[in-house]
Amino acid sequence: MKVLGVNAVFHDPAAALVVDGVTVAAAEEERFSRRKHGKAPVAFSTWELPEQAMAWCLAEGGVEPAELDAVAYSYDPDLAVQPNGDITASDWEGLRTLYARRAPLFLRTALPGLDAERVRWVPHHVAHAASATFASGFDPCSVLVLDGRGERGSHLAGRHADGRLEILAAQGLPHSLGLLYEELTAHLGFRRSSDEYKVMAMASYGEPGFLDAFRRLVRADGAGGFAIGDVDLGAFAPPLAPGAEFGPAHAALAATVQRRLEEVLLELAGWLHERTGDGDLVMAGGVALNCVANSRIWREGPFERVWVQPASGDSGTALGGALHVAAQLGDAPAPMPSAALGRGWDDAALAAHLRTAEVAFEQPADVADAVAEALADNQVVAWFQGRSEFGPRALGHRSLLADPRRAENLEKLNDIKGREQFRPVAPMVLVERADEIFADGPIPSPFMLFTHSVRPGWAERIPAVVHVDGTARIQTVDPAAEPLMARCLERFEARTGVPVVVNTSLNTAGRPMVDDPRDALECFGSSPVDLLAIGPYVVRRAGVARVAA
Ligand SMILES: [Fe+2]
Repeated sequence: MKVLGVNAVFHDPAAALVVDGVTVAAAEEERFSRRKHGKAPVAFSTWELPEQAMAWCLAEGGVEPAELDAVAYSYDPDLAVQPNGDITASDWEGLRTLYARRAPLFLRTALPGLDAERVRWVPHHVAHAASATFASGFDPCSVLVLDGRGERGSHLAGRHADGRLEILAAQGLPHSLGLLYEELTAHLGFRRSSDEYKVMAMASYGEPGFLDAFRRLVRADGAGGFAIGDVDLGAFAPPLAPGAEFGPAHAALAATVQRRLEEVLLELAGWLHERTGDGDLVMAGGVALNCVANSRIWREGPFERVWVQPASGDSGTALGGALHVAAQLGDAPAPMPSAALGRGWDDAALAAHLRTAEVAFEQPADVADAVAEALADNQVVAWFQGRSEFGPRALGHRSLLADPRRAENLEKLNDIKGREQFRPVAPMVLVERADEIFADGPIPSPFMLFTHSVRPGWAERIPAVVHVDGTARIQTVDPAAEPLMARCLERFEARTGVPVVVNTSLNTAGRPMVDDPRDALECFGSSPVDLLAIGPYVVRRAGVARVAA
């Protein structure tokens, strides 16, 4: 069966193609349109489809729209607030429902030849759940979806067994842990449903001084859900203007909401485990990108293993929707092989891009070794290899790399990316060495979705990647899965004794991650990056062509 998954309703529009249960391609529209998060998260943008991502997924799979057995649309208008004459009511909620219901017509226009009858609406949180259950390959497992909102709910707790989802609890709106965190994000001067990870980083700078109040305001209900009272954030810290310096009260508020979120998630996980007795928990939904909370669930929760979908935001519902419908149609969805489900180019195409740009480039005998040499020489490297990642994390395909031994590299990378200086950068580490350096989190951790503590003796050796609270959000690199990145780490270790490099996403301020070779060249050309490693080729700043293959 050929199933195209589409996320279009709120934000992070994306597409995914699943053929006979295998995920062939998945990509976010922002990587094509170069507009971060794809579109504004407002009801009147609901009609906007991830047109370029859909077209690319189909082309990648060699599938014509007319050949699709189904299109999975990750929002079910039947479950939503119905239009009642005034579509502007409740923030245009009726308009959103109307657009979602008309999706088959929009899709038919975007994909000429598509049979509009083949479009199936998948409940938003069922799509999130499927992005974790099927994609992890864990069966049976417990599943938690922790989101801002879906049609009428904000969370789902369930059990996945023999490919079927049993929903055990679902929290209705307006109670939403994700929306509370979004409110706080906006209150602190950041962009709502985009910059939540900045709040998580800021939380490390404060103590949770308002915890008593928030323990009253935000409570698990003992029935698998939770309730959130009337939270007046301004009573704890005044609102911050964008770009304004934060004070102790802001850090304390961030720390408090973060801590209370963790406590409530632990209670939800405990409730779920009591009902299922499963060893494995899988998670998705925007809140599941909170790696500090994920780590507490891993450390203190009742489950033995915790797997989090790397595209836990709404883009992941394109994949989950497609996997869910593939299963409905009788296929047995296979786990996602890696997050590298986006676009890739062969060496000849990369060389053609470099020639078009008229930049001098060379082809070293081993690009991984050439990069390791540059990193050991304290150069910053733009690393463009293989297919791009699906989801918000750079995992060694579209990355900025640097030497973790130098504390000043944190500031250097944040400057290149135009980011706030309180934001941490993360380490990549060879999986077989991870245990020696990092503790208190799952290993392997291939998707950077958990934080670990840094073992004594190592924090001083890799200061650039140790956050103010002594933790690091690691990515473990398995040579079997990522041979090129692993070799780079091995070669770096051979030179420095440290099997760790700094890894942050390859993009400049406010822009989506680099996806295609032209983006890589634009990023390299406009920021003080010393070296671009693109496929087997290397471009050096002010370099000289030694080999123009
Ligand atoms: Fe969602």
